[in-house]
Amino acid sequence: MRDSIEFLLGHERRSLRGVDPTLTVLDYLRSHEHRKGTKEGCAEGDCGACTVVLARPAGGRLDYRAVNACIQFVPTLDGCQLLTVEDLQGPDGELHPVQRALVEAHGSQCGFCTPGFVMSLFPLWRAGGGATRAEIADRLAGNLCRCTGYGPILAAAERLAETPGATAHLLGREVEVLAQLEALADDRSTLLIEDGDRRFLAPATLEALADLLLAHPGATVLAGSTDVGLWVTKQDRRLETIIWLGRVAELREIRASAEAIEIGAGVTCADGMAALAAEWPDMGEVYRRYASPPIRNTATIGGNIANGSPIGDSAPLLIAAGATLVLRRGRQRRRLPLEDFFLAYGKQDRRPDELVEAVIVPRRRPEQRFRAYKISKRFDQDISAVLGAFTITLDGGTVREARIAYGGMAATPKRAAAAEASLRGRAWAEPTVRAAMAALAQDFSPITDMRASAGYRLQVARNLLLKAWLETSGHSAETRLVGDRSLAHV
Ligand SMILES: Cc1cc2nc3c(=O)[nH]c(=O)nc-3n(C[C@H](O)[C@H](O)[C@H](O)COP(=O)(O)OP(=O)(O)OC[C@H]3O[C@@H](n4cnc5c(N)ncnc54)[C@H](O)[C@@H]3O)c2cc1C
Ligand code: FES
Ligand code: FES
Repeated sequence: MRDSIEFLLGHERRSLRGVDPTLTVLDYLRSHEHRKGTKEGCAEGDCGACTVVLARPAGGRLDYRAVNACIQFVPTLDGCQLLTVEDLQGPDGELHPVQRALVEAHGSQCGFCTPGFVMSLFPLWRAGGGATRAEIADRLAGNLCRCTGYGPILAAAERLAETPGATAHLLGREVEVLAQLEALADDRSTLLIEDGDRRFLAPATLEALADLLLAHPGATVLAGSTDVGLWVTKQDRRLETIIWLGRVAELREIRASAEAIEIGAGVTCADGMAALAAEWPDMGEVYRRYASPPIRNTATIGGNIANGSPIGDSAPLLIAAGATLVLRRGRQRRRLPLEDFFLAYGKQDRRPDELVEAVIVPRRRPEQRFRAYKISKRFDQDISAVLGAFTITLDGGTVREARIAYGGMAATPKRAAAAEASLRGRAWAEPTVRAAMAALAQDFSPITDMRASAGYRLQVARNLLLKAWLETSGHSAETRLVGDRSLAHV
């Protein structure tokens, strides 16, 4: 066991022992390191004022990701370089190109949000800038500004590639940083941080993780912390034993074969989205509207399934695609169709000492038509009121198989069995589709809540099925949103 969290703050090595296991990175930066540039706006991942950048080694280079410091716990910094706005300015006070672009475009007024915007733009700058306005808007979807207005900020972001500024202090040390982080990643011992009767365990192998779960069946499994972080910051929950899966490299793997794409439970929504979107394009469109880039950079697909949320975005998409879940307990694995994992509200087919290990998503076959639509009040950063996902397998013009799954329509993500049955073996034509739309009333009795009324939900669910038919039968132009935010409210 190792008892110290090892990471780089900028270019300085930190070894932390005995810290509160749920101390947030934001509180650590402001209270312990006196780096006050990183701000707190909401403490729940919504506003972006706390955005910092984490660098990890990936494929022989540094992979920079913007994340929300307010909901990340300090032990999850292990093995990373943490960059805050204080790291960007050069040693002689010269501004970094991202900072300078914002100044020159008048992209800041009160300045409260500005460090967050700077840090969200830093990975874009490092990737060479040059993004389109739509890509930049996506990139900044998690950063709110209440006074400047977004026009100047977007204009600044468009100039990143050509804006000069201090860069050598960062670029000139990347090789050295990479070597230090790779050395940290070589350590295979379990990290154990204890504070009184509370502990944070971070194993580095899948076997050690499975064994720890058997030994601590009541522990909180921590993945990307985008739910669990809020239990602490918003609900003041005291977590006695946390087992973090973020150091287990096998869980971050995406394995592609001729038949399927296997996504480890620790793969982030950002990385999983990139892999799935190539095969199932509408999944990419839904994930693009899943929270914001800093949330997607930490939230895992495994966590989005394991939490059993009836309004989580991943489950209906993956159920419609015919995904299989892999669960692991000790050395034993079992597989089940993803839809069978969700038993009732808040109840999943998972023992407390069992781990979601991976999800296996079949490759899309040429005869399969796939559509998925997220309906929410806002385009970005909003939880779905209804999410509909449709895989229609055609034999000529006849429906051989239909997999229709909805989120937001029941206590769990759920297939529309009656609607599917009414389509099977019939022509993929309007009368059949209208019959299936009617059958949805047998499948679902949705609730009314703050996101939508029951009547709205059922009507939207029906209309989404019709939309899927219109788009896959040549009756309507596709309304995918790629690059076009003006279609947000279709
Ligand atoms: C600002 C904001 C916006 C959001 N927007 C969306 C959105 O648009 N769509 C959406 O679907 N969700 C959204 N969410 C919810 C959240 O991102 C997801 O639920 C997320 O995927 C959870 O994954 P995680 O890796 O962060 O899990 P964690 O928070 O680490 O864990 C979540 C739960 O799953 C358990 N768990 C995690 N991994 C495993 C595993 N491998 N095996 C067993 N148990 C496990 C944990 O114990 C915990 O109970 C949003 C959250 C925030 C804060
Ligand atoms: S403080 Fe609002 S996202 Fe972190
Ligand atoms: S400059 Fe004031 S909140 Fe953005």
